[in-house]
Amino acid sequence: HVYDSSEAASLYVAREIADLIKERQKTSDNVVLGLATGSTPTKVYDYLVKFHKEESLSFKNVITFNLDEYFPMQPDSIHSYVRFMNEHLFDHIDILKENIHIPDGSCTKENVKEFCDAYEAKIEKNGGIDIQILGIGRTGHIGFNEPGSSLSSKTRVVRLDRVTLLDAASDFFGLENVPAKAITMGVGTIMAAKRIILMAWGEGKSLIIKHAVEGEIKESIPATFLQHHVNCDFILDEAAASNL
Ligand code: GLP
Repeated sequence: HVYDSSEAASLYVAREIADLIKERQKTSDNVVLGLATGSTPTKVYDYLVKFHKEESLSFKNVITFNLDEYFPMQPDSIHSYVRFMNEHLFDHIDILKENIHIPDGSCTKENVKEFCDAYEAKIEKNGGIDIQILGIGRTGHIGFNEPGSSLSSKTRVVRLDRVTLLDAASDFFGLENVPAKAITMGVGTIMAAKRIILMAWGEGKSLIIKHAVEGEIKESIPATFLQHHVNCDFILDEAAASNL
């Protein structure tokens, strides 16, 4: 789906999420959202906050699982995805703290595997992800599933691609400060979501979007696996769609 602007596209995505939340409220059921960080989803979060403030949209029936976190990373660091999510969404809505899940970058090397397995189990225990939102990295990563990630991969520690480290360098005030690893949901975890919405804005994403949508399905571009998903939409602005 190609929109005139990322603003219009983000409004569409936020509306779909809000509609599902309201629908489930009628039957007192929960909604499980898979959330992403990065610059791409921020306008969606702005709209969700707006709906909370202006339309009294409640998030009390919402359970969230974030895709990824740098490893190691302390939750109170300015670079943490915990901080990002609080600033962009959680601090401004009425979601229950116990319903928020973000991979714990403060795990030790010894207990991180146990944490990852428990994260997977928690997603399943909550009935799986209803809507997973995604951005896309220049390497074609989804979450932090870099080239080489398999279709069946689960939540785990991964080594970040050099391109990803370079892209993150300015946020970390230098390449040498970017953590070399991350915890990420796997491709398999993402593919198990009932619905997936991948968003991309700007010309800088147009080449990888072309590969992801029209290219051969292969591990070297993990986003191509989404072609297998039965309910996945790519929501693009015109610039990101310009190579299709
Ligand atoms: C990071 C995140 C991804 C995100 C990607 C793109 O690598 N782990 O989930 O999709 O950045 O970031 P941006 O949206 O800023 O382009």
